[in-house]
Amino acid sequence: MTPRKILVTSALPYANGSIHLGHLLEHIQTDIWTRFQRMRGHQCYSVCADDAHGTPVMLKAQELGITPEEMVSRTRAEHHQDLLDFHIAYDNYYVTHSDENRELCELIYNRLNENGYIARRTISQLFDPEKQMFLPDRFVKGTCPKCGAEDQNGDSCDVCSATYDPTEMKNPRSVISGATPVLKDSEHLFFDLPQFSDMLQDWMKAGAIQAEMANKLQEWFADGLQQWDISRDAPYFGFEIPGAPGKYFYVWLDAPVGYMASFKNYCDQHNLNFDEYWAKDSSAELYHFIGKDITYFHSLFWPAMLEGAGFRKPTGVNVHGFVTVNGSKMSKSKGTFIKGRTYLDHLNPEYLRYYFASKLNDGITDIDLNFEDFVNKVNADLVGKVVNIASRCASFINKRFDNTLSANVLEPQLVAEFQQAAEQIADYYEKRQYNRAVRDIMALADKANQFIDANAPWVTIKDETKQQFTHDVCSLGINLFRILLVYLKPVLPALTAEAEAFLNDTLSWDSAQQLLTNHEVSKFKALMQRVETSKVDAMIEDSKENLQPTGTVAPDSELSKDPISDTIEFADFAKIDLRVALIAKAEHVEGAEKLLRLELDLGGETRQVFAGIKSAYQPEDLQGKLTLMVANLAPRKMRFGVSEGMVLAAGPGGKDLWVMEPHAGAKPGMRVK
Ligand code: MSP
Ligand code: ZN
Repeated sequence: MTPRKILVTSALPYANGSIHLGHLLEHIQTDIWTRFQRMRGHQCYSVCADDAHGTPVMLKAQELGITPEEMVSRTRAEHHQDLLDFHIAYDNYYVTHSDENRELCELIYNRLNENGYIARRTISQLFDPEKQMFLPDRFVKGTCPKCGAEDQNGDSCDVCSATYDPTEMKNPRSVISGATPVLKDSEHLFFDLPQFSDMLQDWMKAGAIQAEMANKLQEWFADGLQQWDISRDAPYFGFEIPGAPGKYFYVWLDAPVGYMASFKNYCDQHNLNFDEYWAKDSSAELYHFIGKDITYFHSLFWPAMLEGAGFRKPTGVNVHGFVTVNGSKMSKSKGTFIKGRTYLDHLNPEYLRYYFASKLNDGITDIDLNFEDFVNKVNADLVGKVVNIASRCASFINKRFDNTLSANVLEPQLVAEFQQAAEQIADYYEKRQYNRAVRDIMALADKANQFIDANAPWVTIKDETKQQFTHDVCSLGINLFRILLVYLKPVLPALTAEAEAFLNDTLSWDSAQQLLTNHEVSKFKALMQRVETSKVDAMIEDSKENLQPTGTVAPDSELSKDPISDTIEFADFAKIDLRVALIAKAEHVEGAEKLLRLELDLGGETRQVFAGIKSAYQPEDLQGKLTLMVANLAPRKMRFGVSEGMVLAAGPGGKDLWVMEPHAGAKPGMRVK
């Protein structure tokens, strides 16, 4: 068999947020596939990068008072370390703000332009007169033009699900400055996607994307493909477009080129031939692993760009569903929006790799991470079945049989059954049906345990006449364990590495076809601890804390559905110093989506409080009102300044949120009893 040449990518995480369990599903899916291909002897490279450009990154850096370059380089380092700690090992983890990417973007754009795929026309867009910039849809809020719901996003309404253009909104305002946007003209550059309609249809029909996704895409074809706006006006963090001063490539143009750029950077350092993988006539395979939300970019724009610029197209776009936690969307208030780092602070990364593997398939349905199921599965399968096989046999080999496995093979049919499973399991990995691979592997683990149970080496070891038999049983147990680890190695690289040290062996896929006989092993060390529910709980608690620096009263609609909390002692309650406060001043906070800055008069003393009530109040509605505040809350440093207390508000959130008001007779500074 000639080794395949394969290049694999995962979607590039945005450089303005942390890696969370949703991202990790994808990186783990990609990493398992990559490791599997390498074990099979193929030449499989994997690259990823941080997605550096765009308005959100630019604004976040401004908020932090650093350059976008500085922010991106910090985030990239953090992301990379998070991934490494989950044993996700890309050959290169780069960043889209790089020379390689700039050069490749310019090359691709110039070729598209020369080939007649770029159009120019003037469009009218909302412009923030205060901030002097055009506003992307998500930076405009206002009243839904269809149903009249207030405080809706610039592109769609949460209440009636209508989608619209931000220019259609009533009472639009800039999320950045609070100013009312004005319409302004500007010339934009467009990529002429419709010219690629037939090519894309053929490419999809040839199986480049899962059938269920291809069917969905037909809806877009039915509606007719549209030209794609690829330019943005300054100020924008990105690459300037050649021959168009003051215009920048839209982040989604340069992001997928980032796959090429990351690989180019790797090739240059490792003397690899970039063209072998990207030239039009390349015989290498190219796969992108992505979430279903970004299918449009990967299955329409990206292959069309590649085709139009004379490069090869992806062999496959592998789409996965979304992670839900305990049956619902990840939620900050429930503590189920879990960052990779928070997980690592409490739990072993291989638990998650195994759990996701046991649920992942080649479909696009969502994957639920149910923590009860997670604890049960990891404990029952990994600790109770797989590791248990080795722990039951290894100590006898170490202590009683001179660290050496027997020369005999007790049950050749059982061994043959384990070995013959190799091709089916490989086929499941190849097709990304990891759930099936895991199911078959665990069925084999059950058989190995039954074999050991039936022969009870812990009983026969006491019988002097049965020493050879005991040795053979334990040796076969270790060999069966070893075959299982061959099959689990793509999922559990760290556990396998420790087992390899014990076995004095390095496992490739073919290792399953040989046994270790008359072979010396090392001292066995415990391979994996059980998951403790208390650690899962602690992780969820910690994830709730992640929320705190971003808001004060957390106008999160999920809070209203929360059950009443556990009781507290009166003494705890008495610690809270509740006061009447006069809202002396209220104003918008630049760059803050939810917060208003309040100056609260406590009858002589003035406090600054950042309150997450912007969705419900205009500053002028609040000025002069009396409210209630927690006056003895420790000051907290937030992104926009120090918050010295908290105002009380109630309601499900959004515009339905009411600041608590005392009786009109109350005076600022009065204690609430
Ligand atoms: N920067 C773009 C991708 C550019 S690729 C040229 C982006 N970044 S992202 O950080 O928002 O998402 C990165 C990947 O994580 C996407 O494939 C996305 O689908 C995936 N996920 C983000 N949240 C997810 C879940 N909750 N569950 C599963 N995957 C999810 O999009
Ligand atoms: Zn609406």
